Amino acid sequence: MFKKLALTTLTALTLSGGAALAAVVEGEVTNYSFSFEGPFGAYDQNQLQRGLQVFTEVCSACHGLRYVPIRSLSDEGGPGISEDQVRAYIEQNFIEVWDEDLRDYRPATPNDNFPTIDSAGAPDLSLMAKARAGFSGPYGLGINQFLFGMGGPEYITSLLTGYNGNDEEVAGIYLYGNDVFPGGLLSMSPPLFDGLVEFNDGSPNDAESMAEDVAAFLMWTAEPQMMARKKMGFTAVLLLGLLAVLLYLTNKRLWAPIKRRAKQN
Ligand code: HEC
Repeated sequence: MFKKLALTTLTALTLSGGAALAAVVEGEVTNYSFSFEGPFGAYDQNQLQRGLQVFTEVCSACHGLRYVPIRSLSDEGGPGISEDQVRAYIEQNFIEVWDEDLRDYRPATPNDNFPTIDSAGAPDLSLMAKARAGFSGPYGLGINQFLFGMGGPEYITSLLTGYNGNDEEVAGIYLYGNDVFPGGLLSMSPPLFDGLVEFNDGSPNDAESMAEDVAAFLMWTAEPQMMARKKMGFTAVLLLGLLAVLLYLTNKRLWAPIKRRAKQN
């Protein structure tokens, strides 16, 4: 009996570790702290806007966001820019999408998704922050994920700042050395360097800050409803707590006459 229970618990622990869902990364991932962590954490709207800017000016040259509707930039809980600003964003950045009917590119509308970009052989980033697990261990049990979260945004930040210069040419392809990427070599050249993007509000634009901003933005693209989910969870806990109190009082009341009788005897 005990053995069976122990086995079940172990299986549950292993499965919920998330190892089965997300590719676990073995490199050194720094545990950055993000505003959206913890039960009451929320996306920092300014950070998401900066992340959008970094994505647009740097990453979008190679990476698409094919699952993200452009209009969602004005959703509550997201970057929160107005609908007019969304239209201006599309115009200023000349965002175009492929139209199946026209069989040609045309200017995007807010109802389109961000473009799909395949030309550079770079993966789509819509869900990347949830497809990578930055934390695992110890011993692959995934216990660190219970303590620190899955670590997707931490992985992305660490990856972008993890270049170590140990580049190699393998079979005619130039690969860049990176402490965080599994295997230590990847085909993405270091995309960020200090001062690359200028923020309107003068926020720090060293490579690490920009990496954090764009990682936060990619967390939002991967889980735009995180705030709503947390709110719902909180309400559920509150209501269950209330229910527990009511049940306790009901229980007391039901047993009161029986206990009184027992005392009299
Ligand atoms: C010059 C093109 C280019 C630019 C610009 C670029 N990337 Fe990449 N990126 C790539 C390629 C190519 C890969 C695939 C690398 C590989 O698998 O070897 C990649 C892979 C990735 C991965 C996946 C790593 C993994 O675990 O598989 C992430 C995350 C990523 N890029 C984020 C970014 C971010 C964020 C930016 C903007 C700051 C950016 N990239 C800018 C070309 C680019």
